[in-house]
Amino acid sequence: MKKSDLISKSLSYDFLIIGTGLSGLSAALYAAKFGKVCIVTKSSIDESNSYWAQGGIAAAVDEDDSVESHFKDTISAGSDLNNLDAVKIMVSEGFERVSELIQNGMKFDSDESGFDLGIEGGHSKRRVLHALGNETGKAVVDFLAKEIEKNKNISILENTSVIELFSDNKTCFGGLVQCDKQKSKIAISAKATILATGGACGIYYNSTNPSSTSGDGIAMGINAGAYATDMEFVQFHPTVFFKDGSKNFLISEAIRGEGAILTNHSGKAFMENYSKNKELASRDIVSKAIFNEMKMNGEKNVFLSLKHLNPSLIKSRFKNTFELCLREGLDITKEDIPVAPAAHYILGGIRTDLFSRTNIANLYACGEVACSGAHGANRLASNSLLECLVFAKRAVDSALEFSRKNLSIPNKIKKRSNEISLISSEKKLERLLSFKVSISQVVNNYVGILRNKKDLLLALNEISSIKKKDLDENDIIDNRIMNLKTISYLIAKSALLREESRGCHMREDFSSKNSKWLKHINWKINNGTLRFSYTNH
Ligand code: SIN
Repeated sequence: MKKSDLISKSLSYDFLIIGTGLSGLSAALYAAKFGKVCIVTKSSIDESNSYWAQGGIAAAVDEDDSVESHFKDTISAGSDLNNLDAVKIMVSEGFERVSELIQNGMKFDSDESGFDLGIEGGHSKRRVLHALGNETGKAVVDFLAKEIEKNKNISILENTSVIELFSDNKTCFGGLVQCDKQKSKIAISAKATILATGGACGIYYNSTNPSSTSGDGIAMGINAGAYATDMEFVQFHPTVFFKDGSKNFLISEAIRGEGAILTNHSGKAFMENYSKNKELASRDIVSKAIFNEMKMNGEKNVFLSLKHLNPSLIKSRFKNTFELCLREGLDITKEDIPVAPAAHYILGGIRTDLFSRTNIANLYACGEVACSGAHGANRLASNSLLECLVFAKRAVDSALEFSRKNLSIPNKIKKRSNEISLISSEKKLERLLSFKVSISQVVNNYVGILRNKKDLLLALNEISSIKKKDLDENDIIDNRIMNLKTISYLIAKSALLREESRGCHMREDFSSKNSKWLKHINWKINNGTLRFSYTNH
């Protein structure tokens, strides 16, 4: 056995929060009212999905709107698989959380008549609050980050990855982290651990997420004994900038909300052939329509046309998009934007109850890493930041109620942590990088928007080519390979099991919704093997 690095430091906190997106930051600020908080991120605060969120935060703040209407739109997008209580909580408490943000000084874009509310697919009303035009995520994250910097109860560890959670499969005691700068292992014990790591769509070759968003938190939770659920539901964003050789970036749905039109290579608008709501149909419908047009015409993209919109609106409201496209040589006030769908948001994740609790005591999850059931089988646009705010607060409230005791990390867990080696070989690093690229292509090509049994089996075959017996569980790089394998396996296998089309899970070979599938596929590790079970909806 190779020489292992001993844990060089032990820290103890009331709350260990993993992830610095909106759910992590808002949980940290709230938790700091009650105790000492440590937030850990493997990159930096400006690398989360929340930071890059464009559209905004949906909330029924307008006089003509209501939480009931927001509730209806959310469940209509969710295709009968939403947990109705979770939706009620999200839309009603969401309104409260957003109002608090505003009272605390967060500035959303407004004019003399009030908030400048946007509209996106699936919403029956204008209810999307945005900031800095379409840089809402950045504005909210920066706002909270400033508060966090001032808060003496919060320590932030950036460039620090969590290697694993301390868990005996019943209780979580904190986690083992690797501090990149010091190249050392730190054991952090905590009364409550909150997973807020974001999603997994960076695992796809074509994605709106940074490639670092590869489902680590979901893997961590599963490895600690938590359930993961609904992993087949991967939402594709309909409009992502697409040009061979260029970087993909999101073209916000809010642009369609202002009247942009989707056209095919013959210059024809096509959305009316797919939905009476045309460009503002829900995301699954628009993505599928685009995919269909591309397939019919043998093209790699369609176009988003804004030429008929007021150029000054484009330059102010969508300044960021205007500038990014200009950098690609495209003046979007005069030319159409080439777009194609790309993986955007995973609806599945670590299963939580209405109080953000997992099945492991003292382990909570919120935001995209969690699956509370609020989004059902397809998330309504701009509901994700709302969910972060609501379920982050609930996680902290639950921790205050249930995670009061100081727990010491059991010796057996400490011993195992000491055995994990931070020193890995160059060869293993190469293997990780090449596995990452090949897995991103496999899920992209075989577990994409429109799935079928043949492709899914091909994907599973590729995923299984990495064998557990060839990996050393005490090697940090092998651990990361194993986690990538776990996430891609869960997505592909769940997609194979669900023999129907519902929400953003679409099967060519089972093209309609089937009431037999009003259930969830849950995953858990039993005796070292991933096993699934069903729960009725
Ligand atoms: C967008 O701006 O189109 C993305 C918003 C979201 O994913 O909710």
